Amino acid sequence: MRLSEQAAIVTGSARGIGKAIAARLAADGARLLIADIDGDAARATAAELRDLGYTADSIAVNITDAAQAKCMVQAACDRFGRLDILVNNAGVGLNRPFLQTTPEEFERTVRVNLTGTFLCSQAAALAMAESGGGKILNIASISGQRGAQNRSAYGASKAGVIQLTKVMALELAPYGIRVNAVAPGPVATDMTNVTHTAEIRQTYHSRIPLKRYAQCHEIAAAVAFLVSDDATFVTGHTLNVDGEFVSSGLMMFDLHESVPAGSAK
Ligand code: NAI
Repeated sequence: MRLSEQAAIVTGSARGIGKAIAARLAADGARLLIADIDGDAARATAAELRDLGYTADSIAVNITDAAQAKCMVQAACDRFGRLDILVNNAGVGLNRPFLQTTPEEFERTVRVNLTGTFLCSQAAALAMAESGGGKILNIASISGQRGAQNRSAYGASKAGVIQLTKVMALELAPYGIRVNAVAPGPVATDMTNVTHTAEIRQTYHSRIPLKRYAQCHEIAAAVAFLVSDDATFVTGHTLNVDGEFVSSGLMMFDLHESVPAGSAK
């Protein structure tokens, strides 16, 4: 198997995209530490993975606390003997107009999404360097690349994650540690299924050539590739998994309605 016996931590993996990533890495052979601020939900997710025959444990962690981030890495090393993979997935969203965003909201968003990624990565990289290398994968967002409405705090935090990915990749290369990021477009999760209105959905669909949201397993598949030995020469890269939201240009009419089936033959 692709990740046979490798030891992995996925933060924020009690639910949502993180849970799908943990399940995919486990299916690829990795041993998982499910790390989440919601300890009960993390325990339940680890139990679900064990019921499927995988090796999984859990830990309650607040990634914004440096001491807790170190404990999380130590727990993985104690449990599995080493740490090969860290996926920094835990994050919080904020949809707030710039003029209404409070300093507290801004700082909390950056603290979880960016500082949390920094703290967990630093703790993990020290352990990985000692054992000869590893892989760090950061979950960014297309909001860190385009000027999305109401995303000053969230977008700034995710832009920071993309930049941190490049610098970590450079500085950790001598230690055999590859660092990459995956930037999802909108993803169908329990949260977006509830919070995204029909109007928001329609707006996204009109700007995404593939005209839909990603499924969690599609984000997990990109992560699984980047942390695998199929990507041994890929580092410092941000892979957009967005149905071409970011790189598409002018769309004057609805692509899907204007192209008759079979017209390209
Ligand atoms: P979610 O809210 O469903 O899950 C996030 C998980 O992180 C939760 O289990 C939560 O308890 C945990 N968490 C939050 N703060 C934490 C902290 N301080 N310490 C430890 N754990 C903490 O979110 P979702 O949708 O699964 O998103 C996962 C990642 O993907 C996030 O980084 C998010 O910014 C990113 N993303 C999500 C998109 C979407 O459409 N859902 C689009 C682009 C990026």
